[in-house]
Amino acid sequence: MLIVKHIKDLQKRLQSDNFTIGFVPTMGALHQGHISLIMQSKAENQLTVCSIFVNPTQFNDKKDFDKYPITIEKDIEKLSLAGTDILFLPELEEMYPEGLDEQKQYDIGYLDTVLDGKFRPGHFNGVSMIVHKLLNAVKPTNLYMGEKDFQQCLVVKHLIEQKKLPVHLITCPTLRESNGLAMSSRNTRLSDQGRVKASTIFDCLTYIKTHQTESEFAELQAYCLAKLTHAGFEPEYLLLADADNLHLIDSFEHANNKVVLVAAKLEGVRLIDNMRM
Ligand code: PAF
Repeated sequence: MLIVKHIKDLQKRLQSDNFTIGFVPTMGALHQGHISLIMQSKAENQLTVCSIFVNPTQFNDKKDFDKYPITIEKDIEKLSLAGTDILFLPELEEMYPEGLDEQKQYDIGYLDTVLDGKFRPGHFNGVSMIVHKLLNAVKPTNLYMGEKDFQQCLVVKHLIEQKKLPVHLITCPTLRESNGLAMSSRNTRLSDQGRVKASTIFDCLTYIKTHQTESEFAELQAYCLAKLTHAGFEPEYLLLADADNLHLIDSFEHANNKVVLVAAKLEGVRLIDNMRM
């Protein structure tokens, strides 16, 4: 696996080959979910590029940024074992040559006003900014992202359409621990007991899915919010939305494609998850 730190070296390497390129952007602390994206990219492209860059502009909470897990040696090992061709590992100055005050505004529209857009002001602007820069640097044929970050996938789809970027977004299913907990880099910050309790999120989503034909969403929502609180979570939201555009709905009958999305803190760690209904 080639490790490249500068955009110009990356482009030199990529331009010399007329290959299909699959790209998996990450912030490191890699887990099996990331590796599944790498494997899918490898199956569908001639060259697979992964990036690791903990992007400061998408953290609305400085403490969250400071605590973000960094496991670069292990990440390199995992990526190389998975058969990744190139790891793009830029320093801060490479991605933000003008410094972090560079505040380009992206038109994210409605998606910036709900769910994580509402609870994490500026987050999706930071995501749009870095994903745009990374796509310009890598110029991939296919971009692979995980459905655990459901809203992020829609924001990136919007970015690609708006900027007319010649890339195909492929969203891949969420990988889960054996107790149902969605794999996430943040899980490493939970205690062993926390990891066990954190499966309550999956239990709630599954409960809602299995009871959707006989109960109103409001009833299921109230039951699950209480269950989460009882397990020690501080829930931020647990909402039903149209999966195509994330317009919030209050009844299962109000959309064809539906998704329940949840964000809740446990042991000070913010976890998100979702399930299609
Ligand atoms: O999902 C992530 O890890 C990040 O938000 C991304 C897409 C790599 C942008 O920094």
